[in-house]
Amino acid sequence: MPTTTRVSFEEDGDIEYVKHQSIAVIGYGNQGRAQALNLRDSGLSVIIGNRDDKFKARAISDGFAVLEPQDAVQKADIVFLLIPDEALLKLFNTTIAPILRFGQTLVFASGYNIGFGLLQVTAGTDVIMIAPRMIGAGVRERYLTGEGFYSFVGVHQDATGHASETLLALTKALGGLRAAVWMNLKDEAVLDLFNEQAFGPAFGRVLLDAIDVLIANGMPPEAVLIEMILSEEMATTYRKMAQIGLIRQTQLHSHTSQYGAMSRGMRYIGLGIKSKMQTTFEEIAGGQFAREWQGKTAKLKFRVIRYFATRQKINRIERQVRQSLRLKIWEEDVFPEDIEALLQSPELKDDEELHRLKEMSEL
Ligand SMILES: NC(=O)c1ccc[n+]([C@@H]2O[C@H](COP(=O)([O-])OP(=O)(O)OC[C@H]3O[C@@H](n4cnc5c(N)ncnc54)[C@H](OP(=O)(O)O)[C@@H]3O)[C@@H](O)[C@H]2O)c1
Repeated sequence: MPTTTRVSFEEDGDIEYVKHQSIAVIGYGNQGRAQALNLRDSGLSVIIGNRDDKFKARAISDGFAVLEPQDAVQKADIVFLLIPDEALLKLFNTTIAPILRFGQTLVFASGYNIGFGLLQVTAGTDVIMIAPRMIGAGVRERYLTGEGFYSFVGVHQDATGHASETLLALTKALGGLRAAVWMNLKDEAVLDLFNEQAFGPAFGRVLLDAIDVLIANGMPPEAVLIEMILSEEMATTYRKMAQIGLIRQTQLHSHTSQYGAMSRGMRYIGLGIKSKMQTTFEEIAGGQFAREWQGKTAKLKFRVIRYFATRQKINRIERQVRQSLRLKIWEEDVFPEDIEALLQSPELKDDEELHRLKEMSEL
């Protein structure tokens, strides 16, 4: 167990510290828009750096001045890099790195590129991380409600000697000092990826298996999906876990429920999930995943996996249930490319997982 975790709160940040500095937010997507609006509402001067398309149009309609990314970087003292991690590498190395000035501050919302050594920043620049533990829409909502959100923060490079003060001032201006845990950038990325690659998929598989068992035993699919997903009872229970504690929230459920859950819960101990998660953790921490995601094969596999995900039985069950419950039916995703050709490509033709996923698909 780490000795003492450094945590910062509202009182630790002083927005005045950055009031005189100009800020550029590169990217106006999930995080870009939310963070730019929060920084502006906190009285800071913000410009947007974005290419000429719908994101630029949105920023202009929100009242921001929008420049080409490199022009915005040149104008600013502080630069938030809020474009997808995989796209940031190219933009940074080709466009941003060559124009950085001594004393500028770069703000990353994820420790991924720096943490796995994919991106290096020249010595004279402060490099900090403010990684919200919240999707973009929530970053904005919780700023407006005053509730704020949790953040993971860190200083990777402190050329000016005051990167920490800048970090705390900006995190406060964003609404992210509900509690900010200090971490090194690699650990943030490892934790983020572990949640996405171990807990997320394990949870998803348990949910799908439960739905399968119930429907196979003759339960009406409408009732099964209402019970497991649509009622949002599980989401509410999860929120109660955050508010009052994982075990304490069980008191909100009936005694029958409490006894049933706790007495049957023992069956699911020692199923080997932990060892699989440990493997995933080591893959991530060892940099294997980051190297894989850099490669051509992963990009090809991503296009095929996304297609087969839409061809899993649950999609048909969901559509049928949403129809009979008069819920909105979403347009099916269109995959213009020849998936079979991709699957037979030299990179993917021997990928057993992909071929297994194809067998599980309703084509
Ligand atoms: N999403 C989240 O909830 C979340 C949570 C915590 C941290 N983060 C981190 O926040 C950062 C941004 O993620 P995001 O989800 O907000 O990204 P996003 O919404 O996918 O970003 C879209 C923005 O990036 C721009 N963009 C995309 N590709 C580009 C390229 N090649 N060159 C220049 N601009 C490009 C887009 O504009 P154009 O296409 O017009 O260029 C658009 O403005 C990432 O580091 C991510 O890890 C995200």
